[in-house]
Amino acid sequence: MPALSADLPDLRAALLAWFDRQGRDLPWRQGPEGQRDPYRAWVAEVLLQQTQVARGLGYYQRFLTAFPTVQALADAPLADVLKAWEGCGYYARARNLHRAAQVIAQQGFPEAYGGWLDLPGVGPYTAAALSSLSLNETRAVNDGNVRRVLARLHAEPQPTPRWVQAQADALLDPARPGAWNEAVMDLGATVCTPRRPQCGDCPLAAWCAARAGGQPAAYPAPKARAAVQEVRAVAVLIGTPQRAVLEQREGALLGGLWGLPAQPYDPARPGAQAQALRDLCARLHATPGDPLGEVTHAMTHRRVIWQVYAATGGPPPADVRGAALSRLDHKALSLAQARADSLFT
Ligand code: ADE
Repeated sequence: MPALSADLPDLRAALLAWFDRQGRDLPWRQGPEGQRDPYRAWVAEVLLQQTQVARGLGYYQRFLTAFPTVQALADAPLADVLKAWEGCGYYARARNLHRAAQVIAQQGFPEAYGGWLDLPGVGPYTAAALSSLSLNETRAVNDGNVRRVLARLHAEPQPTPRWVQAQADALLDPARPGAWNEAVMDLGATVCTPRRPQCGDCPLAAWCAARAGGQPAAYPAPKARAAVQEVRAVAVLIGTPQRAVLEQREGALLGGLWGLPAQPYDPARPGAQAQALRDLCARLHATPGDPLGEVTHAMTHRRVIWQVYAATGGPPPADVRGAALSRLDHKALSLAQARADSLFT
């Protein structure tokens, strides 16, 4: 196997030639290399922080149609921004985009990595991506894909964040930093995949120590998984799936969204679910009705399970169509709609 450091120009040329031929054609990859439109690039990078490319495509188009310019985003009410982000999850991203748009509308787009990093919702990965893609700055991105590619290239079973950043900085092609970053992203997403790497198609195969050892998928060694936290709550539908009592959520995850009134409970305590339903209805001045069923939503570290009940009384219902709702709320409304449909068919 050729020594990686001596061969750096060939290795870079091989990956970039592969990217020029096979790189993914994605809507945010328009414009001259190193001079991407910063608005479109920024929206895409924030979206892709926690959303996979295949799902992100639809959300990206919808968001850009709603807010074609940074000024349009800055001028919009937060409720409209959350509505355009609806279904995408991790709503702090939408709130931060909105706040940052107001800064950019005043000061203009950042002109260097540090300026990007100062904006709400922009961390080192996003700042490196944006400064390389739209400012041609030599900044290497470092995420899970990059970690896997570099761990395999060097047959490093336990790559620390500092090690990955150092290797990524050393490999980055200073002549084409944005293309280099996206080439590594694409290699990790399409060829150097977690379980079944396609080494036969890999432009870096000649330099890959993990491939030479015969066990590329063994790198990096699996991390101990954080336990998934289970959260249980009761939720009530007062009204119909089209006109219902909604409350505005607070907190980092769903803050600003609207949803069915809900009350968490501890399933380990006997009678806690019934008590939560009574407490929730008492707070709303409502009367509990029939159970409608259960809905669940799984995220990376959390699984939320709701027991949904009909209820009567309480505050006046409002039109649900104009409000931004979480996916769990949509599931609860669909459940109620399915119940209503089955009663009349
Ligand atoms: N993931 C994060 N940024 C990306 C980009 N620019 N292209 C494809 N996948 C990405």
